[in-house]
Amino acid sequence: MAFPPSFIDELVARNPIEDVVGQYVNLKRSGSNMFGLCPFHGEKTASFSVAPDKGIYYCFGCHKGGGAINFMMEIEGLSYPDAVRKLAERAGLEVPEDEQYQSRYRQQERLWALMKEAGRFYNAQLYSPAGAQCLAYTQKRGLTKAILTRFGVGYAPDSWNALVDAMHKKGYTDQELIDADLVGQKNGRIYDRFRNRLMFPIIDVRGNVIGFGGRVLDDSKPKYLNTSETLIFNKRKNLFGLNFAKKTKLGYLILVEGNVDVITLHQYGFDNAVASLGTSLTEDHAVLLSRYTDQIVLTYDSDEAGQKAAQRAIPMLEKVGIGVKVLQMQGAKDPDEFLHKFGPEKFRLLVEDSSNRVEYQLKAIAGKYNIKVDEEKIKFVQEAADLISTLPSAVQREIYGHRIAEAGGISFESMQLEIGKAYKRRVAREKKRQEKIDLAPAKHRQPESRNIRYDNVKSAIAEEGVIAQLLKDPSLLSLAGDLHAGCFTVPLFGKVFQQVCTRYAQNLDVSLGVLTDLTAEEMSHLTGVCQNSQITAGETAFRDCLAVIRGVTQAKAVSSDDDLLAFRDKLKERKGTK
Ligand code: GTP
Ligand code: MN
Repeated sequence: MAFPPSFIDELVARNPIEDVVGQYVNLKRSGSNMFGLCPFHGEKTASFSVAPDKGIYYCFGCHKGGGAINFMMEIEGLSYPDAVRKLAERAGLEVPEDEQYQSRYRQQERLWALMKEAGRFYNAQLYSPAGAQCLAYTQKRGLTKAILTRFGVGYAPDSWNALVDAMHKKGYTDQELIDADLVGQKNGRIYDRFRNRLMFPIIDVRGNVIGFGGRVLDDSKPKYLNTSETLIFNKRKNLFGLNFAKKTKLGYLILVEGNVDVITLHQYGFDNAVASLGTSLTEDHAVLLSRYTDQIVLTYDSDEAGQKAAQRAIPMLEKVGIGVKVLQMQGAKDPDEFLHKFGPEKFRLLVEDSSNRVEYQLKAIAGKYNIKVDEEKIKFVQEAADLISTLPSAVQREIYGHRIAEAGGISFESMQLEIGKAYKRRVAREKKRQEKIDLAPAKHRQPESRNIRYDNVKSAIAEEGVIAQLLKDPSLLSLAGDLHAGCFTVPLFGKVFQQVCTRYAQNLDVSLGVLTDLTAEEMSHLTGVCQNSQITAGETAFRDCLAVIRGVTQAKAVSSDDDLLAFRDKLKERKGTK
């Protein structure tokens, strides 16, 4: 364990969850809990709760949860030890330093410094004789010297060892160059990974150079070489240009596909452009974006792939509370080309004109059908009605209903009927889905997070019960007999059980907030289990759960859905009779 458990106890005790969260979220008391707008998924109604008595927070919307330490990790993007240090500072506690943490942090610091040095090296090369051709290329692409400097753009020379030699001179080791993914390895020797490429440094929101994207100067393949996963770089969690765009005064962000698009947009005054790093948009990206804006103009390439990517991105962004508009270009494949061809004023008009996602999706539907053919017209109207029926506002439904009726050459009344039918179809589908869930609970009790699997659902539910109750009332441990971590089919619960036992035996605090060694996902899942647990702590319910776990560990019985339903009902009954 990284820090002494007694230190963590004091840290958690001296940092009441409502104070820690209260620095970031406006909380209102309601009964014994407090509620506010979730800082992690940008919502409009308060589904984010804080339970001061349990020392935890939990969002019923995005299911993130944990104690004060986890909160700091999530909100500030810190590692566990860094979050602990920050809270210690807040409470005026001295941190007992841990060797392993220090070495990991030192390693990260070295990589940040190395990446910065590498960036400087590439940048200098761009203006050296070796970089002349590359510099000419940037000019051909219409990039100004000022914007190249602002983004720290550089050139990786056509050499197997230029960077390696330069970094050796600065005191960096082979291993560090390997860890930073700046080099390749062959026959025990390392060589420059980026050669003869235009280099775009990738900079995180805190201003550290964490990776590079290197573009070829001609049409050869692969067009881009990007830093892969390292200790300091994860492309699924970072966006190109966000270090600048987060400070924009424009009030919205422009999301594009290419690095060059970002830079050209910034050059023309759109200092709010960002791009995902050669991957499709991830949920982590969406959450990150929601910290800086509630309005995004999607400006993906006008080809089919770009439009598909836009359709995928829309629901992800809306899920985190971001309003999405879609900008469509004609006469240019991407913003870079558009700006050079037509200028920034025309682009600004496009931004103003960009339709909201409903209009965009309706356009996409219209594009699929030839409405001069009756059969296709019917399909067009039905599909459009389907989309319109999902809109929460009656005014919106009416506006778009009118528009489609007109386009399809039908009366508004028939259109309304279609929308009504589509709505009923959806409700019926939803009901069926719910029935299926009720009939086959095993399949649907799987945790939402992909990294936590319930292989034996019956036992897992009992394990949930045991853990949730122990975290409420650890004295129940006296009933647990020879139960041990290995009896749990879900490794997470086994791990938690182990910690509960150790802490209880040492007379230390047992609660969610003091648990260590859990990923954010695990912590959130665990908090959800405790928040949603239908069982009140009590000896009988605890024994019921134990019996199920024991039964499973003895016989490894496969649970039938009937069994499972009965067991769940039994636990619910207990709650009722307590
Ligand atoms: P130009 O074509 O010069 O305008 O470059 P661009 O930066 O606009 O790139 P493009 O629109 O072709 O691609 C969008 C983004 O996808 C790029 O910025 C890269 O991040 C990524 N990408 C493109 N090609 C590759 C590739 O071959 N490999 C990888 N890993 N990523 C790529
Ligand atoms: Mn491009």
